[in-house]
Amino acid sequence: MTTDAAPLPAPAVPAGARPPLVTVRDLKVAYDGGPLVLDGVHLDLHPGETVALLGSSGSGKSTLMRTLTGFAPVTSGSVRVAGHDVPGLGRAGLRRLRADVGQVFQQFNLVGRLSVLTNVLTGALHEAGPVNLAGGFSAAHRRRAMELLDRVGIAHKAKEQARSLSGGQQQRVAIARALMQGPKVILADEPVASLDPKLSHTVLDLLRGIAREDGIPVLVSLHVLPLALRHSDRVVGLRHGEVLVSAPTARLSAEQLAPLYDHDDEEGED
Ligand SMILES: Nc1ncnc2c1ncn2[C@@H]1O[C@H](COP(=O)(O)OP(=O)(O)O)[C@@H](O)[C@H]1O
Ligand SMILES: [Mg+2]
Repeated sequence: MTTDAAPLPAPAVPAGARPPLVTVRDLKVAYDGGPLVLDGVHLDLHPGETVALLGSSGSGKSTLMRTLTGFAPVTSGSVRVAGHDVPGLGRAGLRRLRADVGQVFQQFNLVGRLSVLTNVLTGALHEAGPVNLAGGFSAAHRRRAMELLDRVGIAHKAKEQARSLSGGQQQRVAIARALMQGPKVILADEPVASLDPKLSHTVLDLLRGIAREDGIPVLVSLHVLPLALRHSDRVVGLRHGEVLVSAPTARLSAEQLAPLYDHDDEEGED
């Protein structure tokens, strides 16, 4: 129920309502002197909104995500993420940037032989520094990790080995681990590509709920159009490294989206 004092932001945060936490301007990226794989990309991510990043394979989605965490080379343009000016960052700056960005991956990237709880606790390593995984986390960290597992609906699995969980459950653990960082931004690169449709909805609902409730931007790359339309406030569509579409999801037409998926990609080869 919503009251006057409720902390929940409105579902779709109007662009400009609050300053963006991520701003990318005229971004160009080439790997090792190769062709441009991102060519003049603009992107704003506002607090509380879920933005679906669409585009066929090779369109540059993962590269764009990697530039936001300093893992891809910025050839030119500006990339600001949660106050960090990414292209100029040195080692310590990159560490601070990455502590502010929670990441979720297609393959979950959990440590399978460790417990679910320990996997979530590793999200705190950004603040705790190297610790002994067998017992080096504080009681406060453990409490917080349990709260997060409860939030994602799998507190009852805390003691089990991560690899014993289903894919949907593992992805929820990965989301709890990302939250353990206290992220200012969440990036999810194809987080449901390994899940069946029902679990995909659960995971995407969870991510969007986090965006709204915690007031952080979530950028989620997807290649299934109906999932993007159902689970995002805004869509940014890439084709051959260029933004072809950037619009509120509710206002998108099929014609605007069709060019993202016309499988005429040979021209994109270098
Ligand atoms: N590490 C890399 N080195 C060289 N080229 C890369 C590298 N990563 C991706 N690419 C190229 O950049 C383009 C965009 O790839 P990517 O960002 O992975 O797209 P998507 O995630 O949309 O499938 C592709 O042509 C791909 O081959
Ligand atoms: Mg990719």
